[in-house]
Amino acid sequence: MDIRPRRNRKSAAIRNMVEETQVKTSDFIFPLFLLEGAGSKVEVDSMPGIFRLGLDPMLKEIEECVKLGIHTFDIFPVVDEHYKDKLATKSHDTSFFYHKALKKIKQEFPEVAIMTDVALDPYSSDGHDGIVENGKILNDETLEVLGKQALSQAACGIDIIGPSDMMDGRVGYIREVLDDAGFSEVSIMSYTAKYASAFYGPFRDALDSAPKSGDKKTYQMNPANQREALIEADLDVDEGADFLMVKPALAYLDVIKLLKDNYAQPIAAYNVSGEYAMLKAAAEKGWLDYDRVMAETLLSIKRAGADIILTYHAKEFAQL
Ligand code: PBG
Repeated sequence: MDIRPRRNRKSAAIRNMVEETQVKTSDFIFPLFLLEGAGSKVEVDSMPGIFRLGLDPMLKEIEECVKLGIHTFDIFPVVDEHYKDKLATKSHDTSFFYHKALKKIKQEFPEVAIMTDVALDPYSSDGHDGIVENGKILNDETLEVLGKQALSQAACGIDIIGPSDMMDGRVGYIREVLDDAGFSEVSIMSYTAKYASAFYGPFRDALDSAPKSGDKKTYQMNPANQREALIEADLDVDEGADFLMVKPALAYLDVIKLLKDNYAQPIAAYNVSGEYAMLKAAAEKGWLDYDRVMAETLLSIKRAGADIILTYHAKEFAQL
């Protein structure tokens, strides 16, 4: 035998030297859920270890994470039902608790990168990402609201806008609205290939944002399709996206690889709520070694080609 692959596995020193992929804390974007009110802290039932946080505990959480080497956060609001309406008006109200909190967070941590979601669902009484009329999701009418939403977030000092709505033309529309208002330095991380997935369940529990009727299949992508991601990515690149995201991550590693091989933009992957919940549930039963499956999961996403990982495991991984 001339070739014995085991020679390169014979000691930790050699294994480490030939290791092809590493996960770093600077790869992470940590999603956080913001509650109205300063002090509250409520665990998400289907996401053990993840809390909905009021402003004070959120500031504390960010401070702890920064010490652990995490420097980017994606902040989602938990919006009480009485604030919701058909046009998601609160999504672009700069006096809303969410916007005020974003401003405060940027003031306290100017060096930290804050990302926000652009989509109507947490603010919509229909629970959809776009405006609903007679059971249909209106594309072009929704763009106007998304533009206002992006602008209101940019005005709070947000670094990265994350359109997660999957309306056609939204990246270009938002880019133009931002540029016209003087926010040309605000980045766009497009949810490029966002699939109509069952893995978002725990997130919708956390935000109480599930659709009141129907599903998201007329705007989010069919899980059966891979080549369609190239159409979405071409559009996003043309329209000025700075990052391309694939979501979910684990069941879509092939799509991450496809975008990595075809585009020069940094590729992000969203290791979503349901993926987190699966590992937690199995670990609670004692069926899996949580620390090891977490590390292996994040490694697989990186190995598939993701430069950036949005993950609820971020803090635990950093603590390890
Ligand atoms: C909102 C949005 C969703 C997620 C991120 N932004 C849910 C959805 O589209 O229904 C899911 C994140 C997760 O599951 O962790 N459009």
